[in-house]
Amino acid sequence: MDNELAAIILAAGLGTRMRSGRAKVLHEIGGAPMIARVVRAVAGLDPAAIAIVVGHQADEVAEAARRACPDRELSFGVQSPQRGTGDAARFGLEALGARASSDILIINGDMPRMRVETLARLLDAHRRARADISLASVELEEPGAYGRVVRDAAGAVRAIVEARDASAAERAIREINAGVYIARAPVLREALARLRADNAQGEFYLTDIVAIARSMGRAVEALRAAAAAEFAGINSREELAEMEAEIRRGTNQRLMAAGVTFIDPATAYIADEAEIGADTVIGPNVQIVGRCRIGAGVRIEGTAYLRDVEIGNGSFLKLGVRAEECHIGPDCEVGPFANLRLGTWLEGHNRIGNFVETKKARIGSGTKASHLSYLGDATIGSDTNIGCGVITVNYDGYDKHHTEIGSRCMVGCDTQLVAPVKVGDDVYVASGSTILREVPDGALAMSHHPQRQRPGWTAEWHRRHAGAKRDSHQD
Ligand code: UD1
Ligand code: CA
Repeated sequence: MDNELAAIILAAGLGTRMRSGRAKVLHEIGGAPMIARVVRAVAGLDPAAIAIVVGHQADEVAEAARRACPDRELSFGVQSPQRGTGDAARFGLEALGARASSDILIINGDMPRMRVETLARLLDAHRRARADISLASVELEEPGAYGRVVRDAAGAVRAIVEARDASAAERAIREINAGVYIARAPVLREALARLRADNAQGEFYLTDIVAIARSMGRAVEALRAAAAAEFAGINSREELAEMEAEIRRGTNQRLMAAGVTFIDPATAYIADEAEIGADTVIGPNVQIVGRCRIGAGVRIEGTAYLRDVEIGNGSFLKLGVRAEECHIGPDCEVGPFANLRLGTWLEGHNRIGNFVETKKARIGSGTKASHLSYLGDATIGSDTNIGCGVITVNYDGYDKHHTEIGSRCMVGCDTQLVAPVKVGDDVYVASGSTILREVPDGALAMSHHPQRQRPGWTAEWHRRHAGAKRDSHQD
């Protein structure tokens, strides 16, 4: 742990340029909310404390941050109304309280590409230079709306001027403020106390601490960053989409370098937390989001949506699989068109065929459900065959009930299992049965209605309708 460092992440703003009802940092990029990526990068430095300043949708932002770093203690400052980044930093300091150590890192929450290595380099340079305030700057061809880094004749940083407040000459400056700062706590505290909101937006600008510190005779360093893309902030949907594409390209490149084949990388949407083994083939239109662990030699034919899924080696997902929060063991065959919902556990060597839906279903090794079934709240043993159209009747309108089916069973087509119910091992359920009570091991169960028939009935039926024109199909 870096005992000398504490961190503040600014994430209270709405982000008006997004034109959204949602806080900017909640918008997802690379399969995770923007804030999650920033929190993870900061946590990678292992600072003694991390405070996150929230405001717009404070609870959701805090939750997204906690989910990103479940084993770190995070503290939160609530800034409302949002009166600028400088005001936000004050709330951050307050949230850090006694844990505000000698150096404070402050970072905008809308920089999802920031990497921990880059933050570490900035910190290192700050300490070597013995600066009071260090900030990252980037040279841009088109500096746009970013704050400009104004240097004096000797090249020392004098101020940061926001684009809206800048003179024409200042606007021409191409060195911009990236939105990452490291400051000595006492200097920061004093400079923040002196901020005034006398600018175009009537806000307290964090960036004004630079000019204030200089007027206090303090040393400010702007460290020009080489990897400009990493420092890009997101302010609009267009920037979000562009960065999404860049992140996706980077993730796909990493995976290809590790031995994953893409039929068309441009249509593979893979979260960068995904782990995918060698010789796995990803077909077109595949989304892999959240925390997925996919083994080696897996084939994903195409058009799949996988979230928080584990897949064992050698499994084959045919066209159109949707799977969320589930485990697919090795050598399974799933789809086409299968819906594996949360809590599905396929032990391995399973076949789940077309139009099969599973939910909270634990399915033993070698068991198959090849067509048109609903298996919910169920435990099924190994090497059992679930026939076409088998349904677990799990819901009585108030509660969900459990179905248990043993190993080596043959459950005939079009069977309903009315839960709670148990079917033993080696059971044969005749097709079209409605199973209402426990079936012991080794038994044959059936609930057939006797079949009635009237010979010649059809011809008579046509005769009764003689003269009437029969439609070939029903409307
Ligand atoms: C800010 C900088 C600008 C820099 C740019 C880099 C200021 C005044 N300007 O501008 O110099 O070039 O970042 O991307 O800091 N926030 C709060 N509370 C507020 C306002 C903002 O928590 O009251 C948070 C936002 O949620 C966001 C971050 O601070 O994560 C930056 O705010 P934003 O409005 O995007 O600042 P920029 O105008 O981009
Ligand atoms: Ca911004």
